[in-house]
Formats: sequence, C-alpha cells, structure tokens
Amino acid sequence: HQLHAAELERTFIAIKPDGVQRGLIAEIISRFERKGFKLVAIKIVLPSKEFAEKHYHDLKERPFFNGLCDFLSSGPVVAMVWEGEGVIKYGRKLIGATDPQKSEPGTIRGDLAVVVGRNIIHGSDGPETAKDEIALWFTSSELVSYTSNAELWIY
Ligand code: TYD
Repeated sequence: HQLHAAELERTFIAIKPDGVQRGLIAEIISRFERKGFKLVAIKIVLPSKEFAEKHYHDLKERPFFNGLCDFLSSGPVVAMVWEGEGVIKYGRKLIGATDPQKSEPGTIRGDLAVVVGRNIIHGSDGPETAKDEIALWFTSSELVSYTSNAELWIY
C-alpha cells in the first residue's frame, strides 16, 4: 500500500555554519538521501542572532546559549526538511550524539566533527520540536510534496 506523502513524518535538519564553511553540504545531504529519506524543502539562509535565539529558545538558561546563538548566526546555514517513516528519530541516529567525542564512528558528527560547540548539524529531537522548527524556518508553500519512483523503496 502506497502512503500519501502528506502522511509521512517530517523533521527539520540544518547544516550549521561550520558544516557549510567546511564544504560538507553534499556529504551530509547524501547520507540522508542514501538512507531513503526524501528532501521536501531546502534553502541557504543567514540567520540573525534574534532568529538563532528563537530557534534555540529551549536552551536559554544554559551557560552556552549566547555562544551557541552567536555561532548559529555567524554564517550561512542550510535549512532543510526531510520526510520519511521514522525520520525524526533515525535522523538523530544518523547525526550522532551531541558531543562529537561521544558520537559513534559512522555517524555524521562521529565521522566529521570534533568539538561540541562546532558539531556541524542540527536535527529536531521530537515530533513537537520538529513541527515548531519547520514552522519557524519555512512557510508552508516552501514545503514540496512529490512522489517519485524511489518512493517504492521507502517502507
Ligand atoms: P542540544 O539541543 O542539547 O543538542 P543537539 O544539537 O544534539 O540536539 O544542544 C544544542 C546545541 O548546543 C548542540 O548541538 C551544541 C551546543 N551545546 C554546547 O555548545 N555545549 C553543551 O554542553 C551542549 C549540551 C550543547
């Protein structure tokens, strides 16, 4: 039975300024693509400090909040929405643990990053944050539902 695209789960993924500057855009997109997830929105943006603070509002009491928001607004970010069964949880698995020193080899942070403050990628941590982050970064007209032959290989 073929699911309608609108029924599939979606998550917000961002390549942070360090990932963009280091030339890791294609490498990161490729890992999500090869897994079988579908890219339904993508753009490159320069977030303001205020926008970064909105994105990370849950962390505003943490000591690293200010530095984190300075970092996120320090250069271009690739903002994306990925779709597929289990994409929120499995996206986090592809990304790896928050601290790259604790991320397993084979994960994006484990393979490509070294320190927690420069961990190259963001991924929503649950269904509620996914919904909120997609709405913060994208308008509904920027989200594209489409089917392709590859859809046959997403279960
Ligand atoms: P968090 O939401 O806890 O992690 P994740 O990105 O894996 O969902 O934290 C957001 C970002 O804040 C994290 O990617 C890197 C930064 N950060 C620090 O700089 N120092 C820290 O001690 C923690 C926990 C996070």
